[in-house]
Amino acid sequence: MSPNKGILHLYKNYLPMTTETPMLSLQEGGTPLIHLPSLSEEWGVNLYVKTEGVNPTGSFKDRGMVMAVAKAKEEGSKAIICASTGNTSAAAAAYGTRAGLRTIVVIPEGKVALGKLAQASMYGAEVFEIEGNFDEALKMVQDVSEKEDVTLVNSVNPYRIEGQKTGAFEICDVLGEAPDILCIPVGNAGNITAYGKGFKEYDAAHGTGQPRLFGFEAEGSAAIVRNEIIPQPDTLATAIRIGNPASWQNALNTVEHAGGGFDAVSDDEIVAAYRGLAQAEGVFAEPASCASLAGLRKKISAGDIEKGSTVVCVLTGNGLKDPATALDTNEISPVRIPNETASFLSRLHKEEMS
Ligand code: F0G
Repeated sequence: MSPNKGILHLYKNYLPMTTETPMLSLQEGGTPLIHLPSLSEEWGVNLYVKTEGVNPTGSFKDRGMVMAVAKAKEEGSKAIICASTGNTSAAAAAYGTRAGLRTIVVIPEGKVALGKLAQASMYGAEVFEIEGNFDEALKMVQDVSEKEDVTLVNSVNPYRIEGQKTGAFEICDVLGEAPDILCIPVGNAGNITAYGKGFKEYDAAHGTGQPRLFGFEAEGSAAIVRNEIIPQPDTLATAIRIGNPASWQNALNTVEHAGGGFDAVSDDEIVAAYRGLAQAEGVFAEPASCASLAGLRKKISAGDIEKGSTVVCVLTGNGLKDPATALDTNEISPVRIPNETASFLSRLHKEEMS
């Protein structure tokens, strides 16, 4: 088996690479596309998940960040900056460090999952927390990047979208063609835009077709669905707690081209999908990721998805990033037993009977 050399190497012909672009890599990409037999049967579709939590920093952001940081380095930048609900900052910190760049991240107050915060600090980023939400943090870093010599690596940076489109390529490579439907969580709306671009380009190059795209926002942050800016977005899925998506218009154009649509899912629906996925299929994704699955379930219940369709849900981040939500939404308390095999066995038999 040849080692994964990362997406810049693997997909260089589809990316804005020059002879001067550094071949930065933490071996991102090549993430599993896992079939879900139980949910496929229950829901009457042929369902796969693209587990982006397997990437080096545990989310899809690595695909976009490797490209954006490599281009920043190529262009002679000495520093990168981003706003983040957590995953972008983790990826920026890892790739920024790897490339020898100063990395500055700005996060919203009190709403970043613990694992993500730990990552940004461990990788050595300078972490700032503002008294405000993600949308305000993004505005601030956009402002700073215009005034200072520092490269903005949020998904308004087009290289981020370029890198992230490789997720669509991989799905086509594994299935041999595009699925009928792709479901994806929506926060700042960069990733749905990236997938749309990826499927379109791969179709032009290989005739793989294009799926209908369904994007799902959290109900308390559903700006696109409601067609209005949400000044105080809220959801337990903190990664997509965004009230004014930067790629709003691009995402609308993308979905208009592909067919499909946007919808909102409640926190209860997200949690049900989050737990169901782990408990029926052995896959642990972070809550925001599970908006894709919760949305699919909603669409199936509404009769909007044809039986037997091949569907891919993008699971954008690893469940381990956010242990607090797992603990808050599940009873996780080990059964206490004496240090004695006989009583353990009798306890196991009792559990079996109950
Ligand atoms: N899922 C996860 C786990 C995310 O971290 C994000 C975005 C999304 C989905 C939505 O993707 O913004 O391209 O629509 N996280 C950003 C961050 C905002 O700062 O980490 P999008």
